[in-house]
Amino acid sequence: MTSASLPEPTVRSDPAAPAPGSGGLVDRYGRTATDLRVSLTDRCNLRCTYCMPPEGLDWLPKVEVLTDEEIVRLVRIGVEQLGIREVRFTGGEPLLRPGLVGIVAAVTALHPRPEVSLTTNAIGLARVAPALAASGLDRINVSLDTVDRNRFKQLTHRDRLDDVLAGLAAARGAGLTPVKVNAVLMRGLNEQDAVPLLDYCLEQGYQLRFIEQMPLDAHHAWTRGEMVTAEDILARLSAAHTLTPDTEERGSAPAERWLVDGGPATVGVIASVTRSFCGTCDRTRLTADGQIRNCLFAREESDLRTAMREGATDAELADRWRIATLGKLPGHGIDDPSFLQPNRPMSAIGG
Ligand code: 5AD
Ligand code: SF4
Repeated sequence: MTSASLPEPTVRSDPAAPAPGSGGLVDRYGRTATDLRVSLTDRCNLRCTYCMPPEGLDWLPKVEVLTDEEIVRLVRIGVEQLGIREVRFTGGEPLLRPGLVGIVAAVTALHPRPEVSLTTNAIGLARVAPALAASGLDRINVSLDTVDRNRFKQLTHRDRLDDVLAGLAAARGAGLTPVKVNAVLMRGLNEQDAVPLLDYCLEQGYQLRFIEQMPLDAHHAWTRGEMVTAEDILARLSAAHTLTPDTEERGSAPAERWLVDGGPATVGVIASVTRSFCGTCDRTRLTADGQIRNCLFAREESDLRTAMREGATDAELADRWRIATLGKLPGHGIDDPSFLQPNRPMSAIGG
């Protein structure tokens, strides 16, 4: 080989940017994404007001949704070449995906083995919890905003509270512990349910976390002034329980935790809006139709599906993913006057 055939050294304007073809998912602000959220479907059997309109949405056409094999391939590339250490399956509702157990089994068999978890509304979990545990699933998060049957029906447009509670108990029984519950409070809707929900979780041994509502609703009805803040949530819980800060190290986990009545039980509050944790964000997202989103609030996506179906190699897909990460913005900017909600609602992005 003559020296003339050697490639020119690449001049990179950003010295922090990784060279294509190597390294993990590093962005221009020095953050590294190691936590992958995979949406397995945009469909759901509930209609939570903050997520989906009662009539549902236009579902993705089947041909655009990744197959089980395509999902496992992209997750494998993430784990083997890009430093992904945690994989969380979301939806829509991931339990609606017929191949879920097989996908979880394939992903827990990867090297190095990632931590694998699931965010679900728990409808149907009573039936599949043992199979999920056997497939290697490590943890589960159940979305539940009230334990009042009528309010559940009002908030989700479906009378399915009993299925959810049975699903939670089955997850605990199958050893998918600690079972975590995520709750969103909405002004004038379910604020009064916060304490009963905490009491229920304490009694059942589930770890409850409240999440500030983010502007991801299909109706674009969210307003900053109406949002129930972390401070509001803590004030409400403190009226019934003594909360003291839990000093145990929480790593990059965004929940701030409090010991309830001296512990050992805790409650978490995720102040995604008022105390954003974007500065330490370690997440990257794959939608059910094969698009990489570098942020929940990203306005652009990178299409891995088309490249994959046109025959891209693993190395080429990994490079596209790295490049997609470089465009990650420093934060969600919800408080900026110029903030624009993403085009897709939460159900199509995946929590
Ligand atoms: N803001 C905050 N959390 C939300 N979730 C769904 N939509 C929103 C929103 N707009 C929660 C669900 C679920 C998780 C994926 O995100 O309750 O637990
Ligand atoms: Fe379904 Fe979750 Fe959206 Fe509720 S928040 S409608 S359970 S995807």
